[in-house]
Amino acid sequence: MTDTDSRTMVIDPDTPASPPSADRTFPPSAEFAANANLSAEAYRRAAADPEAFWAEQAKRLSWATPFTQVLDWSDAPQARWFADGTLNVAYNCVDRHVADGHGNTVAIHWEGEPGDSRTISYAELQDQVCRTANALLSLGVRAGDRVVIYLPMIPEAVYAMLACARLGAVHGVVFAGFSAHALASRIADADARVVITADGQYRRGSAVPLKAAVDEAVSGTDSPVEHVLVVRRTGIDVTWTPKDLWWDELVEGQSDRHTPEAFPAEQPLFVLYTSGTTGKPKGIVHTSGGYLTQAAYTHHVVFDHKPGTDVYWCTADIGWITGHSYIVYGPLANRATQVVYEGTPNTPHEGRHWEIIDKYQVSIYYTAPTLIRTFMKWGSDIPDRHLLRSLRVLGSVGEPINPEAWMWYRHHVGHDRCPIVDTWWQTETGGIMISPLPGVTAAKPGSAMAPVPGISAIVVNDEGHPVGNGESGYLVIDKPWPAMLRTIFGDDERYKDTYWSRFAAQGYYFAGDGAKYDADGALWLLGRVDDVMNVSGHRISTTEVESALVAHSAVAEAAVVGANDDMTGQNIVAFVILRGSAVDTGAALITELRNHVATEIGPIAKPKQILVVQELPKTRSGKIMRRLLRDIAENRKIGDVSALQDSAVMSLISSRLAGEKPDDNLGNPAILMTRR
Ligand code: WTA
Repeated sequence: MTDTDSRTMVIDPDTPASPPSADRTFPPSAEFAANANLSAEAYRRAAADPEAFWAEQAKRLSWATPFTQVLDWSDAPQARWFADGTLNVAYNCVDRHVADGHGNTVAIHWEGEPGDSRTISYAELQDQVCRTANALLSLGVRAGDRVVIYLPMIPEAVYAMLACARLGAVHGVVFAGFSAHALASRIADADARVVITADGQYRRGSAVPLKAAVDEAVSGTDSPVEHVLVVRRTGIDVTWTPKDLWWDELVEGQSDRHTPEAFPAEQPLFVLYTSGTTGKPKGIVHTSGGYLTQAAYTHHVVFDHKPGTDVYWCTADIGWITGHSYIVYGPLANRATQVVYEGTPNTPHEGRHWEIIDKYQVSIYYTAPTLIRTFMKWGSDIPDRHLLRSLRVLGSVGEPINPEAWMWYRHHVGHDRCPIVDTWWQTETGGIMISPLPGVTAAKPGSAMAPVPGISAIVVNDEGHPVGNGESGYLVIDKPWPAMLRTIFGDDERYKDTYWSRFAAQGYYFAGDGAKYDADGALWLLGRVDDVMNVSGHRISTTEVESALVAHSAVAEAAVVGANDDMTGQNIVAFVILRGSAVDTGAALITELRNHVATEIGPIAKPKQILVVQELPKTRSGKIMRRLLRDIAENRKIGDVSALQDSAVMSLISSRLAGEKPDDNLGNPAILMTRR
């Protein structure tokens, strides 16, 4: 089954009759175009002199010391942007708006999952960030120190990030769905002194523990963590240890005044861990001036954000890069009024997002294709019951958006009136790189169209030569950009190897994605070309899941592949060979293995299927042929097996699978297993 075939199954009868095609384009209305924040002329201006263009964008920020040099690329691929300028990131996101007379403007309309809500003005945000910064200072946190933040989507997460930024400390946000084990390895890699967490979090209507995972992660005598600051969110019971302090007891007693210090533009702002092609997650390092410039610029032009009138909502979690750049840094630098929602989209009912859009009159809505496809499955009658009249721009991020989902989004959410911006970027790029401009581009459903002004990205073949229209190849970024990652935390060599070695001769950054130009030269993303899976927009490496599986005493060998999935983009399918000594208890063992992966990494990495096999298909040099395993996982006819060391292996595996079909139950993945 091809991608498109499988996804048409979820389309509903209400979708506009004409089939989406690569030829259909959706230009902005004349009115939208006339009022847009950026016009077509910017493409030419930026291409003619990218550095001058970025210098102009950097003026969106308030600099304590103006920069004199835009880019220093003399030590490539180690970039320095605006290096002799100084600024304070938190001042730029908060204080300057208050100083400009916008203290009463709402920064955050926060909506809790159980229905509680808080309205936080810029003045209040300033008080809270200052108190939090003073609290961190009292714990000994200084510029350059690492603070790990392991919190649900509550305002304190934003306060904590901005407080670190204010002090020049480096935050490392770890998604609150990661396990104690994954948290511990990130804490250790970042060598963090302080962890900020909550007693528990609300998930699908119930309070579940969160601090317990921190207790486990910091319990070792070798843990670098000195203090754990605990927000009271759910009131559930927690175990108390000598490292622990309640947030309300420490933070609320602090002064709400704190004078921000200016730091060099290249001061590290945060480290964010993401999956690579090896088992060890990479700590992606971002710095201050260039990162904030691109986050603010792209938020302004890609969403056409108008401070003072728009209400913006990005549905990402702050545990991912989208939450960093498009909930915290970009929007707040632009004085946005935004919605932050704590919970899941179907709690207490499947219309929760539409209800929130109408409640706060959201005008810009930024979400992920996996969620759009889920909304399609739940039925278009659900959004159709809401007004959604306030919306004017829709965004998508995280994976390629299939044309059907794009059309559904446009019709049922945007009422055929709102431009859709399909934004391609990565944890490593820090900000949006490829996207339509809503007031300029005649967008095509499913295409991210072209790099934004100031960014240069091309599609090349194996030799690094640009491909022509109608051809596909590898996506590379051929010029440095302000929000680019600076390194992998503590590992400059891995940084060079991972991103800059594939096209070293040309000096290109290799993104790991395949892409093509269509006949008109529009850019289409084709998914990862490496061993990184994309499950509901979350990056998980095959090797990471394999390492987790072989860490279990019953498993001798494991091979993991991502199989196409209507809802989640890909799902995880694992093939395992059991150890001779292992007792195969059937479904019980499979459940145990799946839970084991959840413990090692987190529930998002749980394989949807685990297949017990006796052999794995390998090449003569011993490399597992994932392509063949993917054929099986996607119920396809098995491809060319000539490279296999033992070609009988595949018929053995597939004959065992005959007749067994996975049960496709969203949120409750079923297990398929072959009996020995
Ligand atoms: C994929 C998320 C197609 C891509 C911001 C990339 C996309 C990876 C898109 C980065 C898009 C993200 N179209 N693919 N609009 N956006 N991707 O680091 O494979 O979590 O390399 O950053 O997601 O995922 P990450």
